[in-house]
Amino acid sequence: MYRYDAYDQKLVDERVAQFRDQMRRHLAGELSDDEFRPVRLQNGLYIQRHAPMFRVSIPYGHLASRQLRKLAELARTYDKGYVHFTTRQNVQFNWSPLEVIPEMCAELAKVEMHSIQTSGNCIRNFTSDPFAGVAGDELIDPRPWAEILRQWATFHPEFAYLPRKFKIAVNGAKEDRAVIQVHDIGLDLKKNDAGEIGFRILVGGGLGRTPIIGREIESFIPWQHIITYCEAILRVYNRYGRRDNSFKARIKILVSALGIDEFRWQVREEWAHVKDGPNTLTVEEVHRVADFFEDPAYEALPADDVGYHHHIAEDLAFASWVKRNVRAHKKPGYASVVLSLKKPGVPPGDITSEQLELVADWADRFSFGEARVTHEQNLVFADVKKSELHTLWQLARKAGLATPNIGLLTDIICCPGGDFCSLANAKSIPIAAAIQERFDDLDYLHDVGDIEINISGCMNACGHHHVGHIGILGVDKNGEEWYQVTIGGSQGNNAAIGKVIGPSFARAEMPDVISELIETYIQERHEDELFIDTVRRIGLDPFKTRVYADRQPHRKVANV
Ligand code: HEM
Ligand code: SF4
Repeated sequence: MYRYDAYDQKLVDERVAQFRDQMRRHLAGELSDDEFRPVRLQNGLYIQRHAPMFRVSIPYGHLASRQLRKLAELARTYDKGYVHFTTRQNVQFNWSPLEVIPEMCAELAKVEMHSIQTSGNCIRNFTSDPFAGVAGDELIDPRPWAEILRQWATFHPEFAYLPRKFKIAVNGAKEDRAVIQVHDIGLDLKKNDAGEIGFRILVGGGLGRTPIIGREIESFIPWQHIITYCEAILRVYNRYGRRDNSFKARIKILVSALGIDEFRWQVREEWAHVKDGPNTLTVEEVHRVADFFEDPAYEALPADDVGYHHHIAEDLAFASWVKRNVRAHKKPGYASVVLSLKKPGVPPGDITSEQLELVADWADRFSFGEARVTHEQNLVFADVKKSELHTLWQLARKAGLATPNIGLLTDIICCPGGDFCSLANAKSIPIAAAIQERFDDLDYLHDVGDIEINISGCMNACGHHHVGHIGILGVDKNGEEWYQVTIGGSQGNNAAIGKVIGPSFARAEMPDVISELIETYIQERHEDELFIDTVRRIGLDPFKTRVYADRQPHRKVANV
């Protein structure tokens, strides 16, 4: 894991002091709301429906146990005793009063964390594969590259006031687990025919109001040039991205307006000015950073553990958890574990201080002191010995963190929605809760198999609803909350934007609507066919027919 050097620490400490003073002046009436706004946004502080919302960055989702303990302490001392993990591997506090935020920043700085560039029109947190470094299908570890780019982007003076926010994701595995196709820049590490490392670069992807799958701008840029190439993209965007209309300000709009060929031409023109300049990477610099991500001290273990297999055979509940929440690891005798933050009745992605402290203890005991956050809003222990999985499972189960539902219908990705967010059209957490309550039969869930449901409370799409196999979007019609449903979206290598099935539904209808979509799938599926593959094969019509034509007479469907 990357550790701050004296320079990093100084930058963060100085920002804390600066923000403390800005907050003092604001509270004393010396900085008006308007003057304070850009300042607070530079520090991840939003003003929400009921209280401030404070977002803290977790670079590529990595958390050390001391950081987990700090989050727990801050949530207990300054908030309501829980935090929320987001779909961009960040963490949010929902209730902390304004005046305590500088103190929280100071505490975070002690464990090498900060909230810088978690909001505002700048380069945001770099996201990546939660199984980086341990996945069997990994070609190149993305973390050193994400870290190098993070350092380049932090406080980059030229890119502090972009037309709009800017998100970059890095993937290094065969399967894209970083959703690179829906990022402003998606970086895909690969080797060319000569075995040299480089990047396939996608640009102009994004969700929100205008969902677009990113387009390939370069099929291979050698690693030495990754910073200068990103710089060239950002310069073209900074100069020509629209500043007159915030809805049209993201890079995807510029790329669509110019066309990818013209955009590429402009970027290459710009690149010619910076290529081979001081930001060209050297082997020394890559190694300096890569050293932080060397393998932990794995033990030489047999591939199989007798006790582990015995527990699977003897204990059905453990076997079901292993099936859904445990993943293969590149090292014999090890596995990766996903702790579910999707226990029915708990808002997706929420975790209490007590649970965070337990996770920290288990990280120390079972997984080299580290945990990771997934963009699906769960936690990962990357490196657990198979022989210890049963013990870990027992502990996690007691703490409510072992729901065996990873990738299943109840593993819902969900934004905070109308319960917290002032931009929301509708609530999203109660929809997730109602669906989880309806589908409480684990056998049925396992039979339905892999399916992703994503819920956003408005078109900003923080819940990634466009790429959900089933996407649910809160819409406002004449002051009432309604829900539009899409199907056929997906993330990963075959990323696709879902299609709207028809008029929106009232909240109370949503569990029935989901049931009918699932029933249609069960009726139509081929053996071993996943929901998304059935949708791709048969299209929307059978689903629409079931949900609308056969609907109960009382079903409340919007008439627009
Ligand atoms: C996560 C770990 C590492 C990363 C990301 C990494 C990355 C790189 C990259 C990008 C290159 C240049 C490749 C090219 O020219 O196409 C390189 C070269 C090299 N790496 Fe690493 N490396 C890592 C670990 C190591 C380790 C552990 C060693 C040795 C103990 C090592 C030894 C070398 C050597 C000898 C070269 C060739 C240097 C040269 O061309 O002058 N690397 N590495
Ligand atoms: S999708 Fe909309 S409602 Fe949900 S968190 Fe984002 S802005 Fe708020």
